[in-house]
Amino acid sequence: MILGLLTTGSGIGAALAQQTPTVKKVPVHSTSSVDGKELFREYCAVCHGTTGKGNGPAAAALKVAPSDLTLVAKQNNGKFPVMKIQHSINGESNVPLAHGSKDMPVWGSLFRHMGANEDLGQVRVYNLTKYIESIQEK
Ligand code: HEC
Repeated sequence: MILGLLTTGSGIGAALAQQTPTVKKVPVHSTSSVDGKELFREYCAVCHGTTGKGNGPAAAALKVAPSDLTLVAKQNNGKFPVMKIQHSINGESNVPLAHGSKDMPVWGSLFRHMGANEDLGQVRVYNLTKYIESIQEK
C-alpha cells in the first residue's frame, strides 16, 4: 500500500528520511512546541545529552563526539556567540564542524517544514539558541 506509506510519512519524519542515513539514528517525535527546552529534549538530547554536556545515548555511535553545549561561551572568551550558534543549528555555518557537515543533522530546513508556518522554524532555532545560552557554564 504505497499510498498508506506516503500519507503516514508526513511532517518531520519525511523530512528526515530525505536526509543522509546517519540521521536515521535520531528518534524523531513530532512536537508542535516552540519551547527551547522542550525542543532540546526532543531533538538534541539524544546526542548532546539532556544537560547539553554531549553525553546523550547516541553519542557513542557517532564518529564525531557531540559538542559540549554548556561550554560554548567559555570557549568563546566568555561571550555566547548567538549568531554562530543559530547558524550552526540552521546548518548554514561555515565553520569546519558545522551542523550537517558530519553527524550533526541539519535542523534549519526540518524546523521550517514542521508546520504550515515556516516562520516558526526560525522561532524554534532562536528559542533553542536562547536555551543553550541559558545552560552555559559560568
Ligand atoms: C545525531 C546527533 C546529534 C543531534 C541529534 C544533534 N546534534 Fe548538535 N552536534 C552533533 C555533533 C556530532 C556536533 C559536533 C560538530 C560536528 O561535527 O558536526 C554537534 C555540534 C553542535 C553545535 C556546535 C557547537 C559549537 O561549539 O559550535 C551546536 C550549537 C549544536 N550541535 C546544537 C544542537 C541542537 C540545538 C540540536 C537539536 C536541535 C542538536 N545539536 C542535535 C550531533 C548532534
